[in-house]
Amino acid sequence: MESSTSTELGQFAEDVLRGLSSTPKTLSSKYFYDDEGSRLFREIMELPEYYLTRAELKIFTEQTEAICSAFTDNAGAIDLIELGAGDGTKTAVLIDHLLTTGIDFTYSPIDISQEANDSLSEVFQSRFPGLRIRPRTGDYFKILSSLEHNSDRRKVLMFLGSNIGNFTSGSAVEFFRRLREVMDANDRLFVGFDMQKDPRVIVAAYDDEQGVTAEFNLNLLRRINRELGGDFDLSKFSHYAQYRPAECSARSFLISREKQSVHIKALNRSFEFEQWEAIFMEISQKYTRPMIEDLAAESGFAIGREFYDEENFYIDSLWLPSVTD
Ligand code: AVI
Repeated sequence: MESSTSTELGQFAEDVLRGLSSTPKTLSSKYFYDDEGSRLFREIMELPEYYLTRAELKIFTEQTEAICSAFTDNAGAIDLIELGAGDGTKTAVLIDHLLTTGIDFTYSPIDISQEANDSLSEVFQSRFPGLRIRPRTGDYFKILSSLEHNSDRRKVLMFLGSNIGNFTSGSAVEFFRRLREVMDANDRLFVGFDMQKDPRVIVAAYDDEQGVTAEFNLNLLRRINRELGGDFDLSKFSHYAQYRPAECSARSFLISREKQSVHIKALNRSFEFEQWEAIFMEISQKYTRPMIEDLAAESGFAIGREFYDEENFYIDSLWLPSVTD
């Protein structure tokens, strides 16, 4: 029975089944980003409480030259490769500068969404007519391992926006180790980390006054209703965000406001919720400097340079592969 269920259902259905059958119940935040979820995330990035995007953009605009020189240092040519580029606002700052330096470079955004790549390419092509842009759609690792190895062009991989924060610590190490495997000694990895700070500032970023983050979380229930034939009543769930300062992690939950049963047609199953039972939705890990150092070392990298904003809210960290062979 179980194996036929997993072959017939898509990955989304399978993950929802596994998540809602676990204790505690959980849903993966990687499914937040349908069209409406992506729109809500763009709204979050504009919120007064959501400092992350502004902090990283400030680093890029105020330290553009230093960042670009660290990328190009001793390299004749570079291939700038961005994992999950989003709307490219921050990257545009670097591209604008790199084009003025005359360095030989290409830009490749990698995304699982063809639509995201198409719209980014359109914007960049009209804004930077001289840019050599090579968007690639699909799985990061498949695409990266298909790229040329040991070429004299340096690959600079960028993983920005604190996206690594949505990985648990074990999966962050695994992710960076896999990146290390497809990198050559001369390549670089540029990662955006949100730093530990006043817990109140962090909680507010994940529990904004206008309730956009609440909608962002609830939207996943709406997606299950639409795509898997669920009957979640969104008014019976509320968003709850917490920050654990000793672990530096923000977590968000949807709380069942009453005892209820939810049926999901595609799974041919109902799920029982107790009053006040939580669904764990997302982790947003924050970092300290030693945590970043450990993560780099465990994944096979050394820290080359770091770029902070003036409040020390955020770091963009440039990593070099540690040479073991
Ligand atoms: C995409 N990611 C880094 C965001 C974060 O801060 O964890 C997603 C998000 N969740 C709630 N607000 C923003």
